[in-house]
Amino acid sequence: MIKIAPSILSANFARLLDDVQRVEKAGADYLHLDVMDGHFVPNITIGPLVVAALRPHTHLTFDVHLMIEDPDRYIDAFVEAGADLITVHAEACPHLHRTLTHIRDKGARCGVALNPATPPEVLEYLPGLFDLVLVMTVNPGFGGQAFIPQTLVKIEKIRKMIDDAGLDVEIQVDGGINTSTAPLVVRAGATVLVAGSAIFSAPDPAVAIRDIRQASEN
Ligand code: DX5
Ligand code: ZN
Repeated sequence: MIKIAPSILSANFARLLDDVQRVEKAGADYLHLDVMDGHFVPNITIGPLVVAALRPHTHLTFDVHLMIEDPDRYIDAFVEAGADLITVHAEACPHLHRTLTHIRDKGARCGVALNPATPPEVLEYLPGLFDLVLVMTVNPGFGGQAFIPQTLVKIEKIRKMIDDAGLDVEIQVDGGINTSTAPLVVRAGATVLVAGSAIFSAPDPAVAIRDIRQASEN
């Protein structure tokens, strides 16, 4: 069963809760919250305050994507704010093993994100230490960018790594996901589809979620 994770990066921040509740009603599985610090990526978004403000108003699983330097400093704050799943970038974590252990010790699930140029081999010595792999299908930092097709081979490789090791790990894709790219990434092995602009820039986000789900089943 494919999961859909709307990214609030493309939501209307002046009416953020309305947009969140709209996608919850439409059957979204996760709520994808993009955290950017202006250092790891060239953009600045939200921190734990916004996560905590939304938390009492929705039952959606909070999937927090940290695009920040030194994420260890903020893990406790995001868990306390209500994050269910915290994904860190391998490129931002010199001590990735320690960072993943820290997230689980705090009681959240953990994920590893890989930029388009990062090889999947960084995962090789960490079996069992993460719950999700996030394959970036654009360079992180902004919504509305075009899908990078070379990432499909990487998704296939990670699918094989996970299946060969018999691990229960989700493969999430993020960037340029829409009704055209969803079937490609699912065929390659993705199980969680993040979509920002394809959902929140659509006239009706509920219809967009349904269309992406349907396309991913083809
Ligand atoms: C980009 C973010 C994404 C972004 C995706 O760095 O990580 O979650 O919202 O946006 P779309 O779906 O518009 O490519
Ligand atoms: Zn993201």
